[in-house]
Amino acid sequence: MSNHIIVAIDGYSSCGKSTLAKALAKELNFIYVDSGAMYRAVALYFLRNHTDLNNHEDVVDALQNIHLNFHSRDYQTHIILNDEEVSYEIRQMPVSENVSSVSAIHEVRREMVRQQQRMGRSKNIVMDGRDIGTAVFPDAPVKFFMTADPIVRAERRYKELLPQNPEITLEEVFENLAHRDYQDTTRAESPLVRAEDAIILDNTDLTPDEQLMFALSKVEPLLNTI
Ligand code: DC
Repeated sequence: MSNHIIVAIDGYSSCGKSTLAKALAKELNFIYVDSGAMYRAVALYFLRNHTDLNNHEDVVDALQNIHLNFHSRDYQTHIILNDEEVSYEIRQMPVSENVSSVSAIHEVRREMVRQQQRMGRSKNIVMDGRDIGTAVFPDAPVKFFMTADPIVRAERRYKELLPQNPEITLEEVFENLAHRDYQDTTRAESPLVRAEDAIILDNTDLTPDEQLMFALSKVEPLLNTI
């Protein structure tokens, strides 16, 4: 029997995973870990340093120079890459366009998974990503697999990006999501798949509150087991 609980949330890009994960962590007083932010920070570092993704040595050298930390304030994730807060940069299009290729690299995944497993060793956490229930914490006692209509997902993401990127188009956002879905589900290593024991949560027609209530109803019964 474990003395802490890990809630694993996986699913497609822009499905509202982080919104649910944050709300759940806040409600339960668990730590929230955004694993996608880690891959994004690596992608940002590679872009800035012109790391050649096809050059094994280049990638391994770069990974040795990457130190990632999370600071949590008001359940917002602030990710620190080598002492610099990069929470804003990692959400911009250059990173979004490159992150799937970066996250498909074996050495990158091995290092991120190692760090993620360390974070979950002794604490109650909610972690969201693509392989949390399958590869990072296959024994997590509760797993969700989130999905939603691709058009609805693109519209949500478009609304989020528009204030800072007035030239962006809905088509561009839709294409980027479709491309990432394709890459995430077809990559050789830890592709995005639903863990057999994951609870499916299709939130196309659900409000954030409804999703939270649903997730809480699955997690709360476990709280008296620790
Ligand atoms: O959740 P997100 O969109 O911020 O994730 C960014 C990218 O990182 C996404 O294209 C897939 C990848 N990712 C991954 O491969 N494994 C994870 N656990 C989390 C994210």
